[in-house]
Amino acid sequence: MDDTPRTRPPALGAIFAGAARLGFAMSCEERTGSLLATLAASKPGGRVLELGTGVGAGAAWLLHGMTADSTLLSVEMNAEVQGVAARHLGDDPRLRLVVMSADDWLDAYDGPQFDLAYVDCRPGKFHRLGDLLDLLRPGGLYVVDDLLPQATWPPDHQDRVDGFLADAPIRPNLQSTALRWASGLLLGARL
Ligand SMILES: C[S@@+](CC[C@H](N)C(=O)[O-])C[C@H]1O[C@@H](n2cnc3c(N)ncnc32)[C@H](O)[C@@H]1O
Repeated sequence: MDDTPRTRPPALGAIFAGAARLGFAMSCEERTGSLLATLAASKPGGRVLELGTGVGAGAAWLLHGMTADSTLLSVEMNAEVQGVAARHLGDDPRLRLVVMSADDWLDAYDGPQFDLAYVDCRPGKFHRLGDLLDLLRPGGLYVVDDLLPQATWPPDHQDRVDGFLADAPIRPNLQSTALRWASGLLLGARL
């Protein structure tokens, strides 16, 4: 079984070139991206949230799967990094890019709930999971990656991941499955 994605978002090549120029190596891998596109496609007209845009690889995959009437709000604290996403995806009217710390964004956001959240930074994942889950509609999907050990992790990071993997399954409002696949995922649905 070859689980390499057969299709890719057209902008991905230019995004990775921009990432290389910045020395940014934290983009999601292609299998994860393909899953993001699939999950986004399951929410026609959906409201999608990403915390931690990076250079926009995950956003490109989400947009790839989203219907024309869906929207993606993506939050990133590093303007230079998110600038790559803005250059290559910014013309897509479904996308709104916000430069802000995800903690500040979680404090400030008072809009409607989301149908899918891809959380790729610490807020909403390793802390403030409850606040993030409150932003999902019932049936809304929650996705995180990078849960399998990686060479780039700081020494204290395994404890953070272990805490998350112990906490997420016992949340009363989340039905979740940990996946030992790609970089290590947790996929959940808001109850
Ligand atoms: C793993 S990368 C994101 C990759 C991207 N989601 C993708 O799938 O290609 C994590 C990003 O989160 C950003 N970040 C880290 N902490 C953050 C915070 N507290 N608020 C907002 N962004 C944050 C980093 O600057 C980095 O660009």
